[in-house]
Amino acid sequence: MKRIAVIGTGYVGLVSGAGISDFGHRVICCDIDKTKIEKLTRGQIPIYEPGLDALIARNVIAGRLSFSTAIEKEVAQADVVYIAVGTPQGENGAADLTAVKTVAGTLGKSIKDYTVICTKSTVPIGTGKIVQKIIKENNTNGATFDYVSNPEFLREGAAVKDFMHPDRIVIGATGQKAFDVMEDIYRPLYIRETPFILTSVESAETIKYASNAFLALKISYINEISNLCDAVGADVHTVAKAMGIDGRISPKFLHPGPGFGGSCFPKDASALVTMAEDVGVSINTVRAAIQTNEFQKELMFSKLKKLVGNVAGKTVAVLGLAFKPETDDVRESPAINMVNNLLANGARVKAYDPVAGENMKVLIPEIDLYVSWEDTVTDADAFVIMTEWNEFRSMDLELAKNAMTEAIVLDTRNILNISELKRLGFKFDNVGRKVLSDQL
Ligand code: UGA
Repeated sequence: MKRIAVIGTGYVGLVSGAGISDFGHRVICCDIDKTKIEKLTRGQIPIYEPGLDALIARNVIAGRLSFSTAIEKEVAQADVVYIAVGTPQGENGAADLTAVKTVAGTLGKSIKDYTVICTKSTVPIGTGKIVQKIIKENNTNGATFDYVSNPEFLREGAAVKDFMHPDRIVIGATGQKAFDVMEDIYRPLYIRETPFILTSVESAETIKYASNAFLALKISYINEISNLCDAVGADVHTVAKAMGIDGRISPKFLHPGPGFGGSCFPKDASALVTMAEDVGVSINTVRAAIQTNEFQKELMFSKLKKLVGNVAGKTVAVLGLAFKPETDDVRESPAINMVNNLLANGARVKAYDPVAGENMKVLIPEIDLYVSWEDTVTDADAFVIMTEWNEFRSMDLELAKNAMTEAIVLDTRNILNISELKRLGFKFDNVGRKVLSDQL
């Protein structure tokens, strides 16, 4: 059993801390945010993440997981310290490392015995060297340490499952001792034959960006193919399915939609382009994927305008505000673009999301929030699906039609039943499935 301190109780820190405690280690999740730590100590979870509350409760009761603001003290007693603080996008597109550097300084001053210092946050390639330098400069106790880069690949909304059943564990380090410590932490995964990639710090850092940017690229690619499908009368789902059967392509991340959002893909894709430029390398594919994504978000509003005409004075119901289902996160959500376009063009926006409503209201106070899709579509001139929540997949379209002023729908996630929409006489559009609208 290792003593582990995790600094930063955001998505990555909290899920990783709770997950590692479930592997049998003693974990203290630390944060400078007193309110957050107080809430966690009282058993309140600050984020919506399926299964996280149960995972935390189970390990707190078992005495393996606790919370603290006393970072220096906890770090001094830890065998391994995880850095899991935020790295928001800075002004020039590169990640802002302020929090990481502050933590590195604190670590330097606080560690006493040999400690493994492991970064889990997504940090620009080369950060490992910077962190080690800061620790060394502040290392007044003369404690020895090893640095590890252990990027996290969990998805919001599936974070607990992804942490417990990862496709792979990537560990970048400079020596065998650190690899041994990290393998010990993840022993339950090792036993389950999860592939471990042991590599250099720079390779580990690069793997994270290269993976995220590739997935972003894949989504932009299928979104452009969906636009082609719209134009030539093909069905993008059949195209994606047939493409995905080819093992070299794989069917995952080939779902067309309103563009990718979230705290990772937009930020990491931009950061990769910027980092590469800094060392004289052009990553044109990823630059294009970012442009395509911006275009795709705008295209959704154009599609709506084609259906509704001038939106000024119209009431539009926006169903789904989160950047994807099973999360309350609205960062970079395509719904932001849709709502802002509607408001800027004089529409009234009624909005609903099972869990992300309040977060969107903070960002765009002009929206009128409702507590169910039924209330939201009532008296609306059109409704738009922006997030593929399950409750929208099964919505009663007849009920919706009867409650609306006009029967118009834009389904940016392709979740509604096309033949049902046609049967009910809806005027509708989706992403890359026009052919079906004509055939069914
Ligand atoms: C992403 C990666 O999938 C994780 O592996 C990674 O750990 C994480 O970023 C991170 O760097 O922390 P996440 O941002 O939580 O995870 O969400 P995804 O499920 O990857 O979805 C991102 C966006 O792509 C969403 O807006 C989603 O709607 C969109 N998407 C995804 C599509 O439009 N089509 C798809 O086929 C898949």
